[in-house]
Amino acid sequence: MKKYVIRGGKPLEGEVRISGGKNAAVAIIPATLLVNGVCIVENVPAVNDVILLTKIMSELGAKVSFLDKTTLRVDATEIHTCSAVSELVRKMRASYYLIGVLLGRFGKACVGLPGGCDFGVRPIDYHIRGFEALGSTVTIEHGIVNAVAENGLKGASMSLDFPSVGATINIMMAAVLAEGTTIIENAGKEPHIVDIANFLNAMGAEIRGAGTDTIKIKGVKELHGGRYEIIPDQIEAGTYMVMAAAVGGRIKVSNVIPKHLESISAKLEEIGVTVEEDDDFIVVSREPGTVMNKVNVKTLPYPGFPTDMQPQMSTLLCLAKGTSIVTEGIYEHRFRYVDELRRMGAKMDVDGRVCVITGIEKFSGASVCACDLRAGVSLVIAGLCADGMTEITNVHLIERGYEDIIEKLKGLGASIGVVDDEENLSQQVSGTTAG
Ligand code: EPU
Repeated sequence: MKKYVIRGGKPLEGEVRISGGKNAAVAIIPATLLVNGVCIVENVPAVNDVILLTKIMSELGAKVSFLDKTTLRVDATEIHTCSAVSELVRKMRASYYLIGVLLGRFGKACVGLPGGCDFGVRPIDYHIRGFEALGSTVTIEHGIVNAVAENGLKGASMSLDFPSVGATINIMMAAVLAEGTTIIENAGKEPHIVDIANFLNAMGAEIRGAGTDTIKIKGVKELHGGRYEIIPDQIEAGTYMVMAAAVGGRIKVSNVIPKHLESISAKLEEIGVTVEEDDDFIVVSREPGTVMNKVNVKTLPYPGFPTDMQPQMSTLLCLAKGTSIVTEGIYEHRFRYVDELRRMGAKMDVDGRVCVITGIEKFSGASVCACDLRAGVSLVIAGLCADGMTEITNVHLIERGYEDIIEKLKGLGASIGVVDDEENLSQQVSGTTAG
């Protein structure tokens, strides 16, 4: 079994280049199915979720190939089925976008219910209500979503009960080729929602207002092929910023859009970390040993503090002086990783959506297990700061969303390595280096 082995305590120094946005890529790749032509998508992160999605796209008949590590070519001119029900579909959340794009282009979709990180119930009822408002009939049977628009989709006005990222994108994608105009009120405003709208507009769509809470989509007859570059990953960037803050040192986080990181930068400054912004990079520094202030954090839809940074920030706050309170405003159960951090010495008390964190001096290395993507990377953060060795299992979950994390961390001077079996592991642990 693949594990990460970390020897903690080495300050981070140097530069890390941020990859393309995972949550933008996993929507833009299915969106190429709306296009009658060839799309070249650049800055695609080399992460497991992307690989999985390209396999699903190939099963549908799209011709998908990587021109280089981060440039994807998709020719979706000929799609031979609107049915995506393989095991692969259940392995990721973003497969729900196949419903919107297949329905939008072909008027029908038959897609397995999505999987993804487990933070409790994650319904897709807003997506379904949106598709119904556009004139389709949607049924769910045996774990499969069947959506049909006998007379094609027709533009409609709707208001989301909550500014859901997935529902906003999915309805927007379905509406692009619908007859007439669609208006989505109380839409999500996340940077990747804007990125997907920009991608679709580059291919001939007419979407206005993405990034505000009202998005207007004027249906067009067809989308054409083209080239598009995905924005940098806001959460990957935030994760490295928090790592540098937690371990100490000074790192340059390059290829970022600082505006997208404002809520994270602001919290780090409140904690006492130095954050310097430039056009497309941020420098984060903290002298190891300096005291960090307690702060309270509540996760909210963008531009609020992102839920996908909650586990990382909570891990950092374990090392702040005093008691911090973290409130999860998006998901019901996103504190499942706390038990693993407790094994490393964390003092965290969870009551529903609230976690009370009492500062400790240090984490201590332990064997721990990643329970989801961001929870997994938080264990990496704790391991980098800990006394002694930390072993992390279930790391495939981390690799769903972090490109080359081991190489990037080694480039910053971290002592981290990967082992694939028990024998190698015992050699690594008994030796003095984690690779
Ligand atoms: N919700 C519903 N019904 C719906 C849709 C959402 O009740 O039809 C609820 C959810 O249960 C949740 C809240 O609304 O409580 C927000 O969910 P949202 O739809 O915004 O999230 P998502 O589309 O399922 C995406 C990301 C998540 C990220 C959230 C919030 C992808 C593939 N996933 O999920 O990313 O946490 O938006 O920003 O884009 C991650 O990258 O680690 C990750 C989990």
